[in-house]
Amino acid sequence: MAENKIEIESRGLNLWYGDAQALKNITIAMPKNKVTAIIGPSGCGKSTFIRCINRMNDLIKDCRVTGELLFEDENIYDRVVDVVMLRKKIGMVFQKPNPFPMSIYDNITYGPRLHGIRNKEELDEIVEETLKSSALWHEIHDKLDKSALDLSGGQQQRLCIARTLAVKPKVILFDEPCSALDPISTAKIEDLINNLKRDYTIVIVTHNMQQAARVSDYTAFFLLGELIEFGKTKQIFEMPEETSTEDYITGRFG
Ligand SMILES: Nc1ncnc2c1ncn2[C@@H]1O[C@H](COP(=O)(O)OP(=O)(O)OP(=O)(O)O)[C@@H](O)[C@H]1O
Ligand SMILES: [Mg+2]
Repeated sequence: MAENKIEIESRGLNLWYGDAQALKNITIAMPKNKVTAIIGPSGCGKSTFIRCINRMNDLIKDCRVTGELLFEDENIYDRVVDVVMLRKKIGMVFQKPNPFPMSIYDNITYGPRLHGIRNKEELDEIVEETLKSSALWHEIHDKLDKSALDLSGGQQQRLCIARTLAVKPKVILFDEPCSALDPISTAKIEDLINNLKRDYTIVIVTHNMQQAARVSDYTAFFLLGELIEFGKTKQIFEMPEETSTEDYITGRFG
């Protein structure tokens, strides 16, 4: 069986915050149209790692990166890379839903407008399409001009996913997208992730082992800034090679 094409690959990636090294020699190849889960105890570098993928760490003072991170056969840390274009292709959804304080419609069309789309019909179409893809259309199609801040937490998070989809990314990064949500909203987001991988490559950080097992195809276990083990999720959960992986997934630490 042919393995999937690799979409994102880090090679010997190191990251320092000042003198403190937060990522140590991370080498990992994440397949296209699959979900890769990043797991590990608090402070092991999960958020730091996924923020590398769309260069969000650039915004942090004294943050330094060495090594390579390849996306579409290009090192995204290359000087010539246009970070705005990179973040259009590699979108991100955060732990806490963070809709803009404006209408639902304007939240979704914000990105497309920024990238030059002005045509009302085209914008309307993007709104409908992304709200359908994020399983929100039926709930909110008749209140698009209402403030996004009046939605429930779970709806806000799905709106943030719709906002990310609106600029047609290739990759979506999720940093603990469900940790502020109730179980029903969490199940909706998990279903959504399952559907989205047909069209996108997904990387998700989660503290929830059951969630990693349910939604991901591949799992990476991080510990103290190092990648301890990476493989098919089934293998990592059923037959981990490293004792520390087993200790973590069975809840013996972390
Ligand atoms: N902006 C920053 N400046 C300095 N150090 C930071 C910064 N962000 C994270 N760190 C440090 O880098 C290390 C990794 O942090 P990171 O946030 O990536 O961990 P994490 O695995 O996402 O943890 P959690 O599960 O708690 O979210 C930690 O030691 C943390 O204190
Ligand atoms: Mg984190």
